[in-house]
Amino acid sequence: MSSKKPDSRTPLISGNWKMNHNHFEAIQTIQKLAYALNPEDYDHVDVSVHPPFTDLRSVQTVLQADEVPISLGAQNCHWETSGAFTGEISPAMLAKLDVSYVIVGHSERRELFGETDEIVNRKLKAVLAAGMTPILCVGETLDERQAGAAEAKVDGQIAGSLAGVKADVVAAMVVAYEPIWAIGTGETATSSDAQQMCAHIRSRVADTWGADTAGSLRIQYGGSVKPSNAPELMSQPDIDGALVGGASLVADDFARIVNYRLYQA
Ligand code: 13P
Repeated sequence: MSSKKPDSRTPLISGNWKMNHNHFEAIQTIQKLAYALNPEDYDHVDVSVHPPFTDLRSVQTVLQADEVPISLGAQNCHWETSGAFTGEISPAMLAKLDVSYVIVGHSERRELFGETDEIVNRKLKAVLAAGMTPILCVGETLDERQAGAAEAKVDGQIAGSLAGVKADVVAAMVVAYEPIWAIGTGETATSSDAQQMCAHIRSRVADTWGADTAGSLRIQYGGSVKPSNAPELMSQPDIDGALVGGASLVADDFARIVNYRLYQA
């Protein structure tokens, strides 16, 4: 299902800082980013940054004090609200810090920390219950792609991670398609491969939750997004945003990605 991008799907450009930047570096980066972007740059795009937990309060303070229209995001959370879960952070704690978006099911968490679709589903529901928007990550490995199993992998992740979530809630969510082989490798999916999978995701969502839900859902592409490839990726009809890793650590690069429109043919 490939349709022209409706205006209702405001593009969302998100910076996933992963385990980078201490809180001093985080303050510097967010200040530089705020300086690099003009008020009108936010007119047609939503922007979020996802620093490590230890930076959230510092970044929140800068964004609030300077009234910067960038949303605060987190990279992960636990599914419980509080309790004996040593080392974990709850959705309620994030919401209290004005976090708006929480990445759930990032491939690094799935692959390195054993997160299953069932765990991702619990986290996603907890994020929603705390009033925040989940950014659900899905994507296949290189082996799965080469074996022709990419769509089946993503279908399973969508079904498992979104089990029991109602249509109107799915409609307001974000899914990030991040092919694992393109993450941090400098290798990007071609814009047509990325478009094809994002369209596939939209049609799977339409099958389960209906066409209206699928038409409202924002789908990001992630995997070596850079200032040079963002304009073409973002011109694809089913790509509504980017989840940016490495390039989001450099304020000027991330600002150019946010401003992809200026570089589109
Ligand atoms: P890179 O942009 O560094 O490839 O990372 C992508 C990613 O995993 C964002 O969540």
